[in-house]
Amino acid sequence: MVLKDWIRVSLSDHKNTIDEGMCGISGCITEGRAVAGILYRSLKRLEYRGYDSAGMATISNGKLYVKKDQGKIDEVNERLNFNEMPGSIGIAHTRWATHGAPSKVNAHPHVDCSGMLAVVHNGVIENFMELKRELLDLNHRFVSKTDTEVVAHLLEENLKRGGDFLSAFINAIKRLDGSYALAAVYVKEPDKILVARQDMPILIGVGDGSMFVASDAAAFIEETNRAVVLQNGEVAVITAKSYDIYRVKDGTKVARSPIVLDWTVEMAEKQGFPHYTLKEIFEQPLTLKSALRLQDAYVDLLTEFLDRGERIFLLAAGTSYHACLAASYMFSKLARLTTFPVVASEFVDNYGHSIDIDTVILAVSQSGETADVLSALEFARLRAATILGITNVVGSTLTRVSRAYLLQNAGPEIGVAATKTFTSQLIVLAQLALRLAKKRGKVAQYEMDEFRDRLYEIPDIVSRVLDEVKVPVQGLAKKYAGEKFFMFLGRGISTATAFEGRLKVMELSYIPCIAYAAGESKHGPISLVEEGTPAFFVCPNDSTRKAILGNIEEMKARGARIITVGSKDDEELMEISDDYIGMPDVHELLSPIVYVLPFQLLAYYLAVEKGLDPDKPRNLAKSVTVL
Ligand code: G6P
Repeated sequence: MVLKDWIRVSLSDHKNTIDEGMCGISGCITEGRAVAGILYRSLKRLEYRGYDSAGMATISNGKLYVKKDQGKIDEVNERLNFNEMPGSIGIAHTRWATHGAPSKVNAHPHVDCSGMLAVVHNGVIENFMELKRELLDLNHRFVSKTDTEVVAHLLEENLKRGGDFLSAFINAIKRLDGSYALAAVYVKEPDKILVARQDMPILIGVGDGSMFVASDAAAFIEETNRAVVLQNGEVAVITAKSYDIYRVKDGTKVARSPIVLDWTVEMAEKQGFPHYTLKEIFEQPLTLKSALRLQDAYVDLLTEFLDRGERIFLLAAGTSYHACLAASYMFSKLARLTTFPVVASEFVDNYGHSIDIDTVILAVSQSGETADVLSALEFARLRAATILGITNVVGSTLTRVSRAYLLQNAGPEIGVAATKTFTSQLIVLAQLALRLAKKRGKVAQYEMDEFRDRLYEIPDIVSRVLDEVKVPVQGLAKKYAGEKFFMFLGRGISTATAFEGRLKVMELSYIPCIAYAAGESKHGPISLVEEGTPAFFVCPNDSTRKAILGNIEEMKARGARIITVGSKDDEELMEISDDYIGMPDVHELLSPIVYVLPFQLLAYYLAVEKGLDPDKPRNLAKSVTVL
């Protein structure tokens, strides 16, 4: 290639490029049953992974059919009607661009020059420029700006040189650097879907006369609950009746039986609620109950590691970070253990230099795939730190990099904003704190017993609170939907509740919000208060109550409107508040699980009031798999 061409490729591609970080892929092959409808439904389930464009490829009678476009899946379907696509084999994709405009040409599937094969991909192919240059020199024609398209042309090139689809696929995979979950189909071998995995999740769903592949089991749980997790460095050949897994490195066959997922179809559906987010908020009594059923041996194992560590970091992003913040109070107050909650993206800069073999990191990640978390863990792992995990996703990367991990058992969460997974993280962390307290023996037995009793009451309390506060919170949402700004304040462990309340309201209603430890409010945020500024206070009847009353008075004196979430019986607080949500008394260290509920509902109803989609807040993705 002449230099001019090289510059054209490098400049044009660098701007748009490798943006396939947060996508959902799926595939299905059956014994004669049309797959288009199945794939369309699977895309809907995967929509939380990305929703700026969607596409599908099927094969029928020796012909490849491809439909794709920019837009949410339903919008694309309305325009293109996926259901019309013929064939009993197909792959599909839902995309979320990180940079570079979402567009029809950049949407997946991507095809080769001859239109004989199609590929869908989630991940980033780091050496795609080099491969693209090589393929352009061989006269391949590229139509998109994506890294994925190189895989289609690489496959085409390998097939041209002889050999079957599988060997062409394996040889292509060997050339790729980066991360990928890939699925490919080829008209000349229409009896198989080929898949590969490196650092991006992919599961095989094992049905009866039909097989599936997907980024996430939610995509095929309607069809089967038997799943095989593909591991890094593996490819699989999937036919309507079988799956065979091979190691890319040496071609050896890997035997792996399916695991049975106890996620019901209903768990992945809305169950009559208008949105997933609301369904998931109301599911919390159940998800909390199931998170109370942890396997003792693993709780002991994590406790052992945490107790042995010299420095303990609680590492997470977003909502999971707020769970870590709350947990740091639990560990300190109940187990007398100092831990450092830290935002994953800051971990290496902040603490990287002091990590060693005595460091223990408890990573909390709903998806188990958040890139910020995984990259911090990789850094720590190379310095011999012990990695522990809490996650909601079986087979996620976090479960593989952890020495030991606990599962949240919350079922799939479709709403982008974390709700039920936050409270399930908290209750898992609370159990860990209790076990650590027992092991370390630094608090009185009666305190631990009391905590344990109160812990097991939580699911029922949550159920009652949701019923009681739903209507009053709806009223608050109506009243405050037109506001331009909110403050959230709490003290002690309620600081975490205030932070999470702010995050929920901000991400679902798009109303700018700040949250502070209430004691800090006089060091700056108070300057924002003017007549009528709405300030939300988290004020359970605990050791922080007296101090926070003072903070409320400070704000009130400057004209703030006080909206308090506090104890049902606290008349003094009610008196000084403009609006009040009454809550039952709960153990101080468990209060975030209960006190966050009105804020989850508020965020949801504010979004509804403002005509926004609470399940898919703009610019956010459920699982952020890019740094
Ligand atoms: C994204 C999501 C948040 C989530 C965060 C961490 O930003 O939008 O809801 O809290 O990632 O996700 P994780 O899966 O690691 O808990």
